Amino acid sequence: MSFSFVHISDHHLLHSADELLLGFSPGHAFRKVLRFISEHLAREIDFIVSGGDLVEIPDLVSYETAKRLMDLRPGSLAPGPGFVRAEGLNGLPIYFLPGNHDDRKNFYRSLYVEQTMLGLMNAYFEHDGIRFLCLDLGTEIKGVLSEETFGFLKACLTDQPAIILSHQPVVRIGAKWLDKYLAKRLGRFWKILAQKKVLGILSGHVHISYDQVVNGIQVMGTRSTAFPFAPLGEKVICLWPPHIRVIHIKKGVLSSRLIEVPLD
Ligand SMILES: [Fe+2]
Repeated sequence: MSFSFVHISDHHLLHSADELLLGFSPGHAFRKVLRFISEHLAREIDFIVSGGDLVEIPDLVSYETAKRLMDLRPGSLAPGPGFVRAEGLNGLPIYFLPGNHDDRKNFYRSLYVEQTMLGLMNAYFEHDGIRFLCLDLGTEIKGVLSEETFGFLKACLTDQPAIILSHQPVVRIGAKWLDKYLAKRLGRFWKILAQKKVLGILSGHVHISYDQVVNGIQVMGTRSTAFPFAPLGEKVICLWPPHIRVIHIKKGVLSSRLIEVPLD
């Protein structure tokens, strides 16, 4: 069995689709990303994963704008799926992770119609025998691996092949000002993963794409669709267009390719 999906992250959508943030237009870029997926990838992928920071200011107005941009039919319970109908996508499933920018209550209320649990979004879904574990590292810029999140990881990471999804990264990416926000207690995290069949880890938060192999596991980040940072020691915002990451799983092996989406 084989399947593909797309990982996108850090959309930072605003109150209106045309508003600017740091000179960037997150709404325009997000539309372009959805249109690109629709025109070039929709036939080969089964779903989208959005890696967090769906909105910049996490009030209900921003989430309504996000839903409108996607023409979203919300899912029932986190992590979904919901279904994207905008830009020709015709009901493509989408799973959302919350980022540090996302107010958990407004995020759940807007995206999941039957959700009553409003705490950390530690949840999983399965696709073709692969378990996707969504780990919630909290609402601070610095990731927090809480006892609750460790408890979920221990209980739900079984002997089944798995992919781990998080907003905040679990590795240093070589940009000093971002690496200082790396979560503590990562030794314990990697220990839990040892001896398990983790095919890959996908994160957002740093707005930079990266690919690493740690303890034999592919660890990847995907550039923000809103405003990318340069992989430098200090904060520099770049005029690079968004990245989307296509993940392909075949016979238990993960491969990944990055695509830059033109904004013009
Ligand atoms: Fe972000």
